[in-house]
Amino acid sequence: MAEDAILGYLAAAEEIPDSGQFASQHGLHHSDVVNVIKSLHGFRYIDAQDIKRESWVLTDEGKKYAAEGSPEVQLFLAVPQEGSISKDELQKKLQPSVFKIGCSQAGKNKWVDMGKQVSRKVQHVEDKVKELLIRVQNGEEISKDDVNSLKARKLIVAQTWKGYSVRKGPNYAPKRKKVATDLTRENLQRGDWKELEFKEYNFNAKGPPSESGHLHPLLKVKQQFKNIFVQMGFEEMPTNNFVESSFWNFDALFQPQQHPARDSHDTFFLEAPSTTRELPEEYVELVKRVHESGGYGSRGYMYDWKREEANKNLLRTHTTAVSTRMLYALAKQPFAPKRYFSIDRVFRNESVDRTHLAEFHQIEGLVCDRGLNLGDLIGVLEDFFSRLGMSKLRFKPAYNPYTEPSMEIFSYHEGLKKWVEIGNSGMFRPEMLLPMGFPEDVRVIAWGLSLERPTMILYGIDNIRDLFGHKVDLSLIKRNPICRIGLN
Ligand code: PHE
Repeated sequence: MAEDAILGYLAAAEEIPDSGQFASQHGLHHSDVVNVIKSLHGFRYIDAQDIKRESWVLTDEGKKYAAEGSPEVQLFLAVPQEGSISKDELQKKLQPSVFKIGCSQAGKNKWVDMGKQVSRKVQHVEDKVKELLIRVQNGEEISKDDVNSLKARKLIVAQTWKGYSVRKGPNYAPKRKKVATDLTRENLQRGDWKELEFKEYNFNAKGPPSESGHLHPLLKVKQQFKNIFVQMGFEEMPTNNFVESSFWNFDALFQPQQHPARDSHDTFFLEAPSTTRELPEEYVELVKRVHESGGYGSRGYMYDWKREEANKNLLRTHTTAVSTRMLYALAKQPFAPKRYFSIDRVFRNESVDRTHLAEFHQIEGLVCDRGLNLGDLIGVLEDFFSRLGMSKLRFKPAYNPYTEPSMEIFSYHEGLKKWVEIGNSGMFRPEMLLPMGFPEDVRVIAWGLSLERPTMILYGIDNIRDLFGHKVDLSLIKRNPICRIGLN
């Protein structure tokens, strides 16, 4: 419609001087006219020149008064023709803002006597403000003084109006030619391809975004850690057993049966099957002995070790259960040094909050060799974490039932400007290694950390539930970059 009007008008006239006036003369929306002008200009049917004008538009308050009348008139009308009304009474009849502004304006205009009692001073008033506002609304001109007074009362604001003046362009025609987008068999048969005008290719047009799969941030960071381990000569351990017996999760690790972590408040125990069927009996005997009375230079824990406790099935609370199985298998072979790692899921009976989930991933590394010492552990940790871009490390003495000494690992976070705990480490105790059958001089250094923590730091996620679990925002997974450069 707008297109026919514009092209038709230009057939007879030289110019459309103002698209705004043109729109109102033809009963069209200016925005429709503008869209058509842009399109016709693009195909050079017309030439369009920008025009800008300052105009006035009503503020929300202005629009309200244009509809309901100015506050001063509303107030005046609320005062009785004869006699007076108390100020409190008058206030009740009006909206608070209307009362407040009405009082000051009607007082200034000397329309009313403002005291405790309010009465009219004139018989009749005209709502000039409302009238002016309506004229502005209709796009009519008003005097400079009136503009200033409405502006001062914040009833109107300036707005730049943008439109076009339009003339015929080099491709002008009273009607837009339909351009062909495809050359069809029919075009060829009929021979009308000779007359057809074809739409030009737009090589700059962007295609629709292609859909593809997306890797979860945890998978990407997991891969990064895997690469580092592999570069350092570590082999991956098989971690495909979420269900584990208490024996491998705790007892074989010299963790006493009364230890609080073995409580159902901390660990998920299985109801069915509630116990394991198989444990290596000879080794179980040695583990029982080291718990009860020690050996290998240890006094043990001096309590009655119960097989039933060791048989209980649970969801593994750490991947160190896997490390323990692997070390047990290794000890059965003629000794050869090993470097093992794993990255997989563990479970803890925790109350869920923004930094804790009941299931998360652990990264674990261990080195098994003759004569290793704490210096080797520190060296391996520094090598490992520097490959992640964390070269400032600090260690703090800690306690684990299965390592001695044990150290918490801290890294200086340049972004947070503080030391943050990034992991736990230690040297496995002789009470754990010697019952497995390792030669006496074999030492195992090991460390563990969560996968979620570094992922949250790397991806700027501050609530773990946004990263993992049923509340994960899928768009977060789609949006995150394919490749990250720099790690902290
Ligand atoms: N298993 C420990 C934990 O769950 C981590 C750890 C692994 C500590 C190896 C020392 C040695 O936190």
